[in-house]
Amino acid sequence: MMLETFYTRAAVGDHEGALVVKRNYGPEGVTADEVIGDPSGHLGAITIMFQREEGYDPDTGNWFYAKYLADGTLDQNPQGMSLAGLVGKGADAGCIACHQNAGGDDYLFTTDANLTGN
Ligand code: HEC
Repeated sequence: MMLETFYTRAAVGDHEGALVVKRNYGPEGVTADEVIGDPSGHLGAITIMFQREEGYDPDTGNWFYAKYLADGTLDQNPQGMSLAGLVGKGADAGCIACHQNAGGDDYLFTTDANLTGN
């Protein structure tokens, strides 16, 4: 796996918030040269976290999660539920179930930087 993660801010409607976009390249064992030579051919999925407005879900830091497949469609869990929103909240598996263990209590693994603009 090779990963590329971008940290930025984005506006959706009249709300502006932190946006983290991760490109997941594969398959397992792929080399950096192979990915750089043909990024779109190796793209497996795009996962995003977008920090929504106060009150969206204060329990989990107001993060909205989504996982897209390389063709741009939303991925689904085995039960056919689209992976978008508070995925895995209160569950044993899923985005929130895992991300709640990230350091800094901000649901982000790769950084504890303040992306919230507050
Ligand atoms: C089993 C644990 C686990 C699950 C489930 C999981 N993640 Fe992650 N995620 C991680 C880890 C560990 C990292 C940091 C290393 C990396 O980038 O892979 C990460 C990184 C990320 C990042 C980059 C920001 C950060 O936290 O550093 C995004 C965005 C992300 N995940 C989105 C998602 C979405 C969306 C889902 C659900 C569809 C999801 N993740 C499910 C463990 C998980």
